Amino acid sequence: MQKIIILDFGSQTTQLIGRRVRELNTFCEILPYNKYPEDDKDVIGVILSGSPLSVYQDDAFHVDLSHIRGRLPILGICYGAQLMSYMYGGKVESAGTREYGRQNLQFVDTENPLFNGFEAHSQVWMSHGDSITKLPEGAVRIASTETVENAAYYIPGEQPVFGTQFHPEVFHSLQGTLLLKNFVVDICGSKQEWSAEAFVETTVKELREQLGSDRVILGLSGGVDSSVVAVLLHRAIGDRLTCIFVDHGMLRKNEFHDVMRDYEGLGLKVIGVDASEKFLSDLAGVKEPEQKRKIIGRDFVEVFNAEAKKITDAKWLAQGTIYPDRIESLNITGKVIKSHHNVGGLPKEMHLQLCEPIKWLFKDEVRRVGRSLGMPEHLISRHPFPGPGLAVRILGDITREKIRILQEADAIYIQNLREAGLYDEIWQAGAILLSEVRSVGVMGDERTYENPIALRAVTSSDAMTADFAHIPYEVLAKISNEIINKVKGVNRVCYDISSKPPSTIEWE
Ligand code: XMP
Repeated sequence: MQKIIILDFGSQTTQLIGRRVRELNTFCEILPYNKYPEDDKDVIGVILSGSPLSVYQDDAFHVDLSHIRGRLPILGICYGAQLMSYMYGGKVESAGTREYGRQNLQFVDTENPLFNGFEAHSQVWMSHGDSITKLPEGAVRIASTETVENAAYYIPGEQPVFGTQFHPEVFHSLQGTLLLKNFVVDICGSKQEWSAEAFVETTVKELREQLGSDRVILGLSGGVDSSVVAVLLHRAIGDRLTCIFVDHGMLRKNEFHDVMRDYEGLGLKVIGVDASEKFLSDLAGVKEPEQKRKIIGRDFVEVFNAEAKKITDAKWLAQGTIYPDRIESLNITGKVIKSHHNVGGLPKEMHLQLCEPIKWLFKDEVRRVGRSLGMPEHLISRHPFPGPGLAVRILGDITREKIRILQEADAIYIQNLREAGLYDEIWQAGAILLSEVRSVGVMGDERTYENPIALRAVTSSDAMTADFAHIPYEVLAKISNEIINKVKGVNRVCYDISSKPPSTIEWE
């Protein structure tokens, strides 16, 4: 399948470039800047991302493009454009102050294929501390703003090179999608074949070839990612797929039973394991978030392993890893913010090979694939839920009583969001029990001294960034009333109004 390669120099917006290219129904892969594939027969063009670095600093990321230039069209964005300038006889200098935000083009060459269809003063979005003060050899200027003379350049050739100082992938570059379409479709020649249906067809075929007559084990979580993998694999290899669904005791109210029923309805072979005793006794008294995650991760591997070993002839372990999991884990700055996601959890002693059929998909694409596989809508549109479950939504140590309180409050919250028609507009919602905090209240004539519940709901497109959902006050008031009246142990409800970044979606 045709694809665009995006070389990642560490920008916050690299993933957005990927999303925009996929929205053009074109497959793309984001790779670290120095990991261009040896076999590039399907590659039709290359995009160089932005970066927090300066091209002239000592530890800047540099890359040899000689094997790409002249063979494929290249588009450099921000740092990518500066890098090619720096390498090909131009000059990059500090702009003095960082330019950040919207600007309008003062000059744009609409005869150039990159700007085909552009308006004269199109708004673009800048975020840079360096400027291209001299264009690379053979380049012509094709756009300027009032303060950025070389806002875009073009090096003609059979396989041309383009550079833009602004970020077309960002929403505030109002014709950015048009620019990317001009590059991907008109200049690189994408046939725009990437679709959920095409993905299902090719993936099922590839899985059959890859797995032959082998047996596969898959860990199910109840979430959309692992469920879609299950249905894809089931379509490819039928009953040679065995799924394992571990109940660690910190799922939502009734979730274990509901999800088991859904899976059985899909014809999947699922082993449900109630391991809540083990998890809860190992977690007893543990308060520190990372320690909780580590214990849950370790116990999960142990329980899963014990079940998986019973399937003696299995050769593969399938996982519902998706693209953003890998990008967050691959963060090239090397800083771990939370140890999460299903990446890197394959126990070595299992001697199984890893099968990750949706590892290139974004969440919305996983949902499109799920729909094209005919899965029930409530499974597909289900909010994401963290692997460690309610453990990371109970601040402090975990007890059965706290889990019960949180499950009740969470169920009331989610049910109300559904009734208000808000559930599907929200990326993810959940209640958090602030079990280390107590406050005074009054119920009837009685003083209460109990825990608050925080409600979290965010809008997002991929969980990398998120805004708190603007739930109407009337709905919040109803939820708050209902929780305080019905859930014993809670006498106060707060709504979390923080965005990501700087906050994260989960509280721990
Ligand atoms: P944060 O809290 O980092 O969460 O903003 C981003 C997304 O990841 C989910 N999340 C997890 N998912 N295992 C998972 O499978 C985990 O340990 C984990 N921690 C956070 C979170 O619910 C949100 O969708």
